[in-house]
Amino acid sequence: MSVSASLITRLAAVPGLRYWRHAPLAPFTTIGVGGRADVLVTFDHREAVAEALALLEGEEVPWVILGAGSNLVVADRGFPGVVLKLDSALSYLEGPHQGPRNGVRVVAGAALPLARLATVLAEQGLSGLEWACGIPGTLGGGVAMNAGAHGVELGSLVEAVEVAGKDGIGYVGGGDLAWGYRSCGLPRGSVITAVQLALVPDDRAAILARHRRLLGTRRRTQPRGVRSFGSAFKNPADHSAGRLLDGAGLKGMRRGGAQVSPVHANFVTNLGDATSADVLGLMSMMREAVERRSGFELEPEVRLVGGRFPWEEPVRPGERHGVA
Ligand code: EPU
Repeated sequence: MSVSASLITRLAAVPGLRYWRHAPLAPFTTIGVGGRADVLVTFDHREAVAEALALLEGEEVPWVILGAGSNLVVADRGFPGVVLKLDSALSYLEGPHQGPRNGVRVVAGAALPLARLATVLAEQGLSGLEWACGIPGTLGGGVAMNAGAHGVELGSLVEAVEVAGKDGIGYVGGGDLAWGYRSCGLPRGSVITAVQLALVPDDRAAILARHRRLLGTRRRTQPRGVRSFGSAFKNPADHSAGRLLDGAGLKGMRRGGAQVSPVHANFVTNLGDATSADVLGLMSMMREAVERRSGFELEPEVRLVGGRFPWEEPVRPGERHGVA
């Protein structure tokens, strides 16, 4: 189902919305592969998101929300629907305000890069987000997938999220979301537009020292300066996907222009001319090698837009897919 001219006309009339037809998506992802979206729309304020969702409701066309594209692979055939993206106007930061007990809270737009937020908070002597320094996603994407590192998950800091939906703007308490490993249980059809985080004041120099230490660990254990979407697979309970993949001898393995990083076996990198088929084919090889060697069926951590992973069931006729 492609996007009708009538829907595009109605979307184009939403104040604060810009759109592009047949937009290449690879430049909006960190791995840099994949095809075009039928339509890409961007928003400079939250009400525009809600208005667009109201227009998309009741249409057969699928839609998906794109953050920094750092945990995403786009199918070579692209996405036959509408890709939504918040623009930099929604990357503001308000606060700090006094919070409960000795804590403080900040409110930040969902498009704010997580790593930039971590740096700004450190400079202000606010602790809680140190683990996110060097993580390439946006705040909204990080909340949607409950991003985490070094034993901390973003969900543990979230007091509330502001969400746009077909009926307008609403708020959900952090305690009312169903946080899971790389998921937050947000109702389908809603888009996070801002997040309220609880933080704790601490010594600025101590926070910055923690940043340096964590960035040092990341530099030692993860590839740098490469096109990648980070971890390809989730860690199975009580196991490490990276260690299982390494044990199966996968470091450095190539398929077309895609390679398993020689530094970290759970990172797939684009050597320059990879296609989505190369990346997905390599992920299949990785998954099969681990299953053969240790019996684990790895689950993808990266999200696929515009298709299914090669080991999944094909899309059934009439089924909507790719809707975030
Ligand atoms: N390991 C190997 N070989 C490898 C890679 C890792 O033996 O090739 C071993 C390491 O030595 C370590 C263990 O596996 O003992 C775990 O590795 P690491 O510490 O690198 O952490 P991870 O579980 O692979 C997770 C997140 C990362 C996050 C790091 C740091 C997942 C799937 N990955 O990685 O997140 O940066 O912890 O906290 O949860 C991402 O989500 O994209 C991501 C990179």
